[in-house]
Amino acid sequence: MDIKVSATAPAKQTNATLVVPLHKKISGVCADINKRSDNAITRAVKRGDAIAEHSNALMLFELKKVTSERVMLVGAAEPNKSSRAQFRAYCKTIAKTLKNSGSVMAIIHLEKTVFVNNVDAAWHVQTLVQILVESQYIFNLHSGKKKPASALKKCVVVVSKSEMRVCAKAADQGVAIANGQALARDLGNLAPNICTPVYLAKQAQALAKTNSKMTTKILTEAQMKKLGMGAFLSVSQGSRQEARLICMEYRGADAKKKPTVLLGKGVTFDTGGISIKPSAAMDEMKFDMCGAASVFGAMKAISELSPKCNVIGVVAAAENMPDGDASRPGDVVTTMSGQTVEILNTDAEGRLVLCDSLTYVERYKPAAVIDIATLTGACVVALGNVSSAIMSNDHELADTLFEAGQTTGDLAWELPLWDEYQSQLDSNFADMGNIGGSPAGAITAGCFLSRFASNYKWAHLDIAGVAWLKEAAKGATGRPVPLLMEYVLSHA
Ligand code: BES
Ligand code: MN
Ligand code: ZN
Repeated sequence: MDIKVSATAPAKQTNATLVVPLHKKISGVCADINKRSDNAITRAVKRGDAIAEHSNALMLFELKKVTSERVMLVGAAEPNKSSRAQFRAYCKTIAKTLKNSGSVMAIIHLEKTVFVNNVDAAWHVQTLVQILVESQYIFNLHSGKKKPASALKKCVVVVSKSEMRVCAKAADQGVAIANGQALARDLGNLAPNICTPVYLAKQAQALAKTNSKMTTKILTEAQMKKLGMGAFLSVSQGSRQEARLICMEYRGADAKKKPTVLLGKGVTFDTGGISIKPSAAMDEMKFDMCGAASVFGAMKAISELSPKCNVIGVVAAAENMPDGDASRPGDVVTTMSGQTVEILNTDAEGRLVLCDSLTYVERYKPAAVIDIATLTGACVVALGNVSSAIMSNDHELADTLFEAGQTTGDLAWELPLWDEYQSQLDSNFADMGNIGGSPAGAITAGCFLSRFASNYKWAHLDIAGVAWLKEAAKGATGRPVPLLMEYVLSHA
């Protein structure tokens, strides 16, 4: 879809849909149209067809003296009384109604009356554009008969003239983030017989070709063995699929500027291993690489935007299978850090691939490391499908990620990593066990990771509840690409 930002509405677009906010008191462009069309809008409101304040939309057709075929009235909050969530709902209504309308082109009047108080025009444009592009997503990679794309080909967002430049940049960011999110969804949705660790490595190489500032380093199992990554390799040892540690290095700033590392859990299928999972909904464990998918999504958005910052995207890719060679409950492995781990449950494999990766990324001398993982069912119990969990060894970093969630609507909430939880990981036979029992399962998983992240600022995002939807809407969401990009771009 083509997105344009303009200070004036294109004249004489007969085949376009004009999108305007409808407030209780008809104002702005809406008032102009009302006047030209002999009060068609006033009548629609009187009949009860058009409702202000509720983010539902009414399409009016072929109004007198209005060149566009369609006018979409979008119910908006009281002028300047919108919250961020209300503005997002407003944008979603526009996106959904356009998608289902058959419109080929839309002219969207982003009037200041729909703005959130004290929030700049750039945020509004980026949010609108991101939602418009994102809502066009269709998964077609396995379809013999392709699902058709919506007719919508072009959106012109009309903003005030003085803010054209910042708004154009914001629109580019919105498009890039939505494209990144689409890649994350595609990779998450791909079948696990296709989307293997080696497949992900190839995707990284393909992505790096799209930007001259991006290179890849891909470690094979043999190389990981040399580095002493005993925990990581214990996960893939029962699988026919070879593991990979995939590093995408983007250098958009001076080499002296310390990079941000984004590290994603890329378990391309999680059977649980010998501690095998029940079969109900086990297919959903193809989504256990959604942390990795979000890293790919962020790196794609970064590749499109070429921001002035250094970001290393790392993906810990492995498959967790039961097998004669698989690790067993009771096995003890030595991590790259030298700490030993008793594998009490082979289904707690995410932390095993991540712990060695956390040690590995020390070599980048990172400004901060953020890992993203579908790590625990306990996180879904705690926060549901609404919010990711943040755990961190740095309060400021945790707060920044929380704020990024608020700004983008890609919500995240902090859980405590207090020392009092650490003893749940005690083992009689090794430095630690890989599970902490059922109480506070998301936190003890974070505690486990924290033991490998003590040499830098670090945060862990448990995205188990938000990375995919179930049932009729089953599919990857592309979260938390928006949150990660908000973090990356505000540090560029
Ligand atoms: N990938 C799962 C976590 C998961 C489960 C995410 C269900 C979303 C939905 C992870 O590898 C896992 O199996 N975790 C175990 C840990 C337990 C054995 C300590 C879990 O949460 O049950
Ligand atoms: Mn598991
Ligand atoms: Zn898992």
